[in-house]
Amino acid sequence: MYLARTVTELRRWRAEQAGRSVGFVPTMGYLHAGHLALVRRARAENEAVVVSIFVNPLQFGPAEDYERYPRDLDRDLRLLDAERVDAVFAPPVEEMYPPGFATSVVVSGPVAERLEGEARPGHFRGVATVVTRLLNLVQPHRAYFGWKDAQQVLVVQRLVADLALPVEIVPVPTVREPDGLALSSRNVYLSPEERRVAAALPQALFAALERFRAGERDAGELRRLVRETLAGAPVRLEYVSVSDRETFTEVDRVERPALLLVAAWVGSTRLIDNVLLDPAAP
Ligand code: PAJ
Repeated sequence: MYLARTVTELRRWRAEQAGRSVGFVPTMGYLHAGHLALVRRARAENEAVVVSIFVNPLQFGPAEDYERYPRDLDRDLRLLDAERVDAVFAPPVEEMYPPGFATSVVVSGPVAERLEGEARPGHFRGVATVVTRLLNLVQPHRAYFGWKDAQQVLVVQRLVADLALPVEIVPVPTVREPDGLALSSRNVYLSPEERRVAAALPQALFAALERFRAGERDAGELRRLVRETLAGAPVRLEYVSVSDRETFTEVDRVERPALLLVAAWVGSTRLIDNVLLDPAAP
């Protein structure tokens, strides 16, 4: 497995892949089985696989966890080597944002401005900017993103379409713990007690999903059910939303695919999760 630390090294590796299909998995490292699901999908669908590990300062707010975000490059490299990844791009900040760096990519509209966009000002600008730069550097045929961050998937699909970037965005289903909690690098912040409490989040989503599958189409009712299920748990709900998967506007009735999304605080850890509400699904 080749480790590229600089843009020059990455470009040299990329040039050697001429004629091969290249799959790319962008990450911030501290890898878990959710990340590895993206890597496996990329491994299955491409001749060469490259993973980036970069904790992107641009996408963290000033009061957020950039400094304490978990990092363990040696462990990440071992995991990726075991998945037969061809190359890892793990640049220092100065390599991604050299002196004078002054461009950002801003996606506008509901997909970037509602929910996560509203709760975390500047977050999607940071994501869109780093993803655009990474896609330009790596020039992959396919890039893999998790539905765990559903709004991020939609923001990236929007920018790829709008900037006509020659890459296929492949969304991958959320990987969960046995009790339903979506895997996240941030789960390490949870104390054992908070970790138990955190399972209430997916359980509330699954309760609503079950009601949806039984025929409930009223979005207000589904949102109410999530609130009600969480009412007893020591979590602070930030939002619960039923958003159209295409327009990302709030919906009254689910007549086409929509996302049921929540953000909530468990102690001082902010968790997000979502499920797809698809009226066409059996
Ligand atoms: P990070 O949080 O490290 O996640 C990297 C990728 O793994 C994202 O596409 C994310 O949606 C996916 N992922 C995380 N947990 C998952 C789970 N439980 N199941 C499936 N996929 C999961 O998202 C980022 O990094 C950054 O914003 C990034 C895109 C790298 C830009 O900096």
